[in-house]
Amino acid sequence: MSQDLPQVQEDIENEVIRRYAEGAQEVEASLCCPVSYDDSYLKILPQEIIDKDYGCGDPSKYAVPGDTVLDLGSGGGKICYILSQLVGAKGKVIGVDFNDTMLALARKYLDEMAEKVGYANVEFRKGKIQDLGLDFDRAEAFLEAHPVAQADGLQKYEVECERLRREEPLIETNSIDLIVSNCVLNLVKPEDKLDLFRDMYRVTAPGGRAVISDIVCDRDPGPEILADPELWSGCIAGAFREDRFIDMFAEAGFQGMEILVRQDEPWRVIDDVEFRSMTVRAWKPQASLSLETKQMQVVYAGPWHQATDDRGRTFTRGQRTGISEAEYQQILDGKSALAGHLIPVDGGNSSSSGCCESGGSACC
Ligand SMILES: C[S@@+](CC[C@H](N)C(=O)[O-])C[C@H]1O[C@@H](n2cnc3c(N)ncnc32)[C@H](O)[C@@H]1O
Repeated sequence: MSQDLPQVQEDIENEVIRRYAEGAQEVEASLCCPVSYDDSYLKILPQEIIDKDYGCGDPSKYAVPGDTVLDLGSGGGKICYILSQLVGAKGKVIGVDFNDTMLALARKYLDEMAEKVGYANVEFRKGKIQDLGLDFDRAEAFLEAHPVAQADGLQKYEVECERLRREEPLIETNSIDLIVSNCVLNLVKPEDKLDLFRDMYRVTAPGGRAVISDIVCDRDPGPEILADPELWSGCIAGAFREDRFIDMFAEAGFQGMEILVRQDEPWRVIDDVEFRSMTVRAWKPQASLSLETKQMQVVYAGPWHQATDDRGRTFTRGQRTGISEAEYQQILDGKSALAGHLIPVDGGNSSSSGCCESGGSACC
């Protein structure tokens, strides 16, 4: 996707850090977009974490037990502490944020929450979500030991950052079952947004998925909006145009993108541009299509006469199509964008084989 980058104000990142450091100290109502979460997971959360919620959706509800989940821009940690309960003792939750004050708030409750749930499966790491290779805590430790005063010191620091990305990455390649994020991706500078999606793809395990709640807009904001620092840090100016939001996933290699939630009423309307929350799910394919054998059969359930997926395969309603064993298993497990659309018909399908095995009754 070639896209002209909008002219924005220079120092977005510092403005974002300043605003959310304040938001970590005092509740800032204007930063919230009303969201309802499942109360049963909020019950054991500290009130301070619930109050300092700057999200716009609830991507946590798409986690399943055992998932390793990465939360991009974890803020006060609310989504991570909800996820901790959802993924259980066998799962793991990693929150990443670049804001020391937010990280301190989230980390403050680690022990208390581990005691309440009965296991410790959450950690918060410092880094930029558009560069999930660089562990800021390690990079800062290097800087402390080797303060930079001259250009050659800077060069050594850059070499060390490259080594860290290679040998001790903040997030390992192919290590995450589910990436979530709640109202953060819009805050990344326009020129870094594609790197962000590419790094999300890198860290997602094959067959894994990303569920992202973020602010989208129905048309491109004008220069006044783009030049306003308050609107940048307030999740407005950096909002994705809704069609481009989906394109960004595709451009990074994700497939099966699906709009799970699109807020009906806009959250805000400025200069006739509507801003609202949207939640999108996308999948990292299990293997390249050329490496797949097609020994398992599925039937496309409809309602369309034909449907073509992001890999260019066309499924015709009611007809059998061959897919790989791995993909077939993902459909059976509900871990595929195609689950619910393709009916597995090649063994292992409880609705077809279970009936006959269950005692010879004439009716099912
Ligand atoms: C709108 S708040 C959302 C916080 C949290 N997800 C929630 O639901 O309450 C944005 C958070 O993302 C962090 N953030 C923004 N840009 C970031 C970046 N490029 N890398 C890492 N964290 C970032 C901010 O520090 C802040 O904590």
